[in-house]
Amino acid sequence: MLLEARNISKSYKSRYGRTIREVLNGLSLAVGEGKRIAITGPSGSGKTTLLNLAGTLDFPDKGEILFRGYSLSGMNTAELAAFRNREIGFVFQSHHLLPQLTLWENVLIPALPLNGNMKEVYKRAEELLRETGLWDIRHQKPGELSGGECQRTAVVRALINKPSLLLADEPTGSLDNRNASILTELLTSLSARENIAMVVVTHAPGVASGMDKIYKLKEGRLTENSDS
Ligand SMILES: Nc1ncnc2c1ncn2[C@@H]1O[C@H](COP(=O)(O)OP(=O)(O)OP(=O)(O)O)[C@@H](O)[C@H]1O
Ligand SMILES: [Mg+2]
Repeated sequence: MLLEARNISKSYKSRYGRTIREVLNGLSLAVGEGKRIAITGPSGSGKTTLLNLAGTLDFPDKGEILFRGYSLSGMNTAELAAFRNREIGFVFQSHHLLPQLTLWENVLIPALPLNGNMKEVYKRAEELLRETGLWDIRHQKPGELSGGECQRTAVVRALINKPSLLLADEPTGSLDNRNASILTELLTSLSARENIAMVVVTHAPGVASGMDKIYKLKEGRLTENSDS
């Protein structure tokens, strides 16, 4: 199993330690290598909280998260940062690109701390940008791109280090139908070709239907959507 969440609980607390919101309550999830999973659920049900835990941006109060069988709770901050950068790609609802950098510079950012062979990174960036129709506009800045172009750039940035897991929070939330389906098609084809597992939070039926499984987050746990 690539990612396994076992019985995790998470609540948010006030500054004084009083629990103000119990969000996840004994939730379990297993994601195999290359598998695609959609998470749906009402606003406030804890979808973003779950992605943050899966991506080690936050930690559960109870339960355990395993990556290829290893518990993440034993890693220190530096180890976690290196792990996250290498293995996990993030795509958010709004692209989170740096406005002062060009599209080309934005997609290279995650590769810089790896101290790898930059020639290979440039080659991969070029391939992905050509494939996503962004190559000709690579010297433009996010403010000069459309919403769909920004989201596609965010996908390329998330994939530049060949992660094994892509976490996406409403990646098509700000896009019109046409751009949403272009992005969905792109995510599914890249995931299939590079064996990248995906956990995608989405309200869009068109996005969810391209996944292997659809789960609904309700009352702090996941249930498999059987009518799909
Ligand atoms: N840092 C925080 N401190 C306190 N409460 C929080 C914090 N982050 C989230 N919450 C609360 O936890 C609950 C779950 O939030 P979360 O962002 O995970 O929901 P969501 O399912 O992603 O919702 P949406 O669909 O609106 O994005 C919400 O009630 C929210 O108010
Ligand atoms: Mg959310």
